[in-house]
Order: sequence, then structure tokens, then C-alpha cells
Amino acid sequence: MPEFINNIIAYYDTLLRALEFSRLGGLARSDVWLYPAANTLHVLGAALLVGAILVYDLRILRGREAPRTALVLSTIGLILLLVTGPTMFSAEATAIGHNPIFLLKIAVILAALINVLLYWLAGPVLPRLVRLHAFVSALLWTGALVLGRLIAYF
Ligand code: HEM
Repeated sequence: MPEFINNIIAYYDTLLRALEFSRLGGLARSDVWLYPAANTLHVLGAALLVGAILVYDLRILRGREAPRTALVLSTIGLILLLVTGPTMFSAEATAIGHNPIFLLKIAVILAALINVLLYWLAGPVLPRLVRLHAFVSALLWTGALVLGRLIAYF
């Protein structure tokens, strides 16, 4: 393995250990309520984000106006997920950080966020691509949800 790859992996492992043994990691493992609350709000966040995005994307795919409410609900869902996800992750960062399903999930979330950016930047200029964005969005966000559930089984 090239030296720089080994260095990146070693640095990643240092970050995982720092997060797991941080105050947040300690609390997520020891506090009776923090992890269950984060897990519950994470599921609520996933339901809000993916549910609202599917409504939004299906409207776009049918060439109809997308409801603004879906945008608001999906944003609330994303914020919930981006707060509760790292909280749960900190409890077992060194283990989950090397879980292939978790790594694939993060890659899918990054691809979905890039697709959102391209939709907002290119959509007005290239309206013909809007349906493709909606289709890719529905696939990627649903994929993130499914992968999130599968983490515990791998
Ligand atoms: C943004 C889109 C995201 C979606 C749709 C999503 C979805 C999910 C779902 C559905 C679960 C299963 C929950 C359960 O059944 O208890 C889950 C678990 C989890 N997610 Fe996410 N998540 C997202 C973002 C994140 C992020 C950004 C992180 C961390 C950096 C994260 C970390 C986790 C962890 C650690 C678990 C628990 C795995 C376990 O069962 O041990 N998630 N996610």
C-alpha cells in the first residue's frame, strides 16, 4: 500500500479514537437518555427527509410544481440527521468508522448533497436535466436510509 494511503488511514484512525474518547463519545455511551434520544430523532429525521424528498422528486418527475412545504420538512430532517448521526457515531467511532456499510452510506449522502447542489445551480439553466436530478435524488436518499438501517447488521 502506498505510504500516503497508510498515512491517511492512520490519521483517520486517530480522528476516530479522538471522537470515541471525547466527552461526547463518553456521554453517548454512559448517559441513559442521550443515545436513545439521538437514535429516535435520527429515525424521525430520516422519515422527514426521505419522505418529503420523495414527494418533491415525484412531483418534479411528473413535471408539476414541487411543494415548498416538502423543502422545509426535508431541511428540518437533514439538520436532525446531521446532529444526531455524529452523536450516535461518537459512541463507537472506531468500530463504525470501518464498517463498509457506514462508509458506503456516507459516500451516498455526499453524492446526494452534490446532486442537490447541481440541481439548484444547473436546474434553472438546464431545465431538461431537472427530471434526471429528481430521479437520482430519490434513489440516493432512499439508499442512504436503507444503508443506515443495515449498518447494525455488518
Ligand atoms: C443524511 C442522511 C441520513 C439518513 C437518511 C440516515 C438514516 C439512518 C437510518 C434509517 C438509521 C437506522 C436507525 C435505526 O433503525 O435505529 C441510521 C443509523 C445510523 N446512522 Fe444515519 N442517516 C443519515 C446520516 C447520518 C450521518 C451524517 C451519520 C454520522 C456521521 C449517521 C450515523 C448513523 C449511525 C452511527 C447509525 C446507527 C447504526 C447502528 O445501528 O449502530 N447517519 N441512519
